[in-house]
Amino acid sequence: MSEDTRRQERTPVLQMVVVGAIASALGIAAGLAIEWFPEQASVQAKPIDDLWDLLIWSSVPVFVLVTVIVLFSVWKFHMRPGEENLDGPPIHGNTRLEVIWTAIPAIVLVALCSWAYVVMTDIEEAQANEMRIDVTGQQFAWSYSYPQSGGKPVKSNILYLALGRPVRFNVKALDVLHDFWVPAFRMKIDAVPGISTRYRITPTRLGTYPVVCAELCGLGHSVMRSRVRVVTAEDFDAWIAKEGEAAPAPGSGDEAAAAPEVDGKQLFAEGNGTATSCGACHTLADAGTSSATGPDLGKTLSGKDEDFIRKAIVEPDADVASGFQAGIMPKNYGDTLSPEELDALVTYLGKAAGK
Ligand code: CUA
Repeated sequence: MSEDTRRQERTPVLQMVVVGAIASALGIAAGLAIEWFPEQASVQAKPIDDLWDLLIWSSVPVFVLVTVIVLFSVWKFHMRPGEENLDGPPIHGNTRLEVIWTAIPAIVLVALCSWAYVVMTDIEEAQANEMRIDVTGQQFAWSYSYPQSGGKPVKSNILYLALGRPVRFNVKALDVLHDFWVPAFRMKIDAVPGISTRYRITPTRLGTYPVVCAELCGLGHSVMRSRVRVVTAEDFDAWIAKEGEAAPAPGSGDEAAAAPEVDGKQLFAEGNGTATSCGACHTLADAGTSSATGPDLGKTLSGKDEDFIRKAIVEPDADVASGFQAGIMPKNYGDTLSPEELDALVTYLGKAAGK
């Protein structure tokens, strides 16, 4: 083979390497420029995002390189008319090349797994002053329980956390697989029937963030959402003290007299902190809500009596509006609403439907 031929063969390979390098740089820049995640609201978020950036640095060049080689080969080395019967030189493997293309990916993978392991172990470390919260997933709602030393646990359907106070979530499922995920905290874990799973976070930012179910769990999976409110330590302590008292003490007798007047319309639109609001899934003109997950109650409850409405709330699958499917609306409103709240809601719906 003459010097000239060898140089001619080397030129396209060189071009390919240059194009591949430029494309990799562009790919990495694009990968790092994209805002993949919401704001960082936990101690754990930054290390996870750094890990993600490392994955972009290491995986984008591989993807780009393979794509460039394929496209370049199609362009440069495809068969031309008259070459139908030509074939390349016979090859019997290339040991050196095979060792290289096995060793490099193996080293990269072992390095990435080790890094990920170190990061995950580090951010999952138990904290001395951590607070335990029991998280329960069921079709299709999350609920939270705060164990209290020497008292009944405080229950809530909105997750309250204290800024800077480490938390350990013990996660359970009552029916099928769910997955407890707060994107702003970055951590997520499956809720598995029969066992308890866990993760730890420490909130670093005040605010309200979405809680999402990240495991396809049935028809209502997409509406299985809740909220987490990160408040100051003082506000949190005040909240939990208030909730602890709010649970009616046995034998106190006059809870009904002490209970404040319930505003059915407000309850409909905002929920009560334990029960998810009706307005999150239902349209009702009078309450100004417009979600189409469930039926428009202004229509389906129009002209119905209070017994029908009450049953529709506590036994949602007994009579499902046409065009909608059973099993989506949570079945626990009989538990999460107090008798007074249920009465107020039924009265309100009886008046507001059909308006
Ligand atoms: Cu629960 Cu998806």
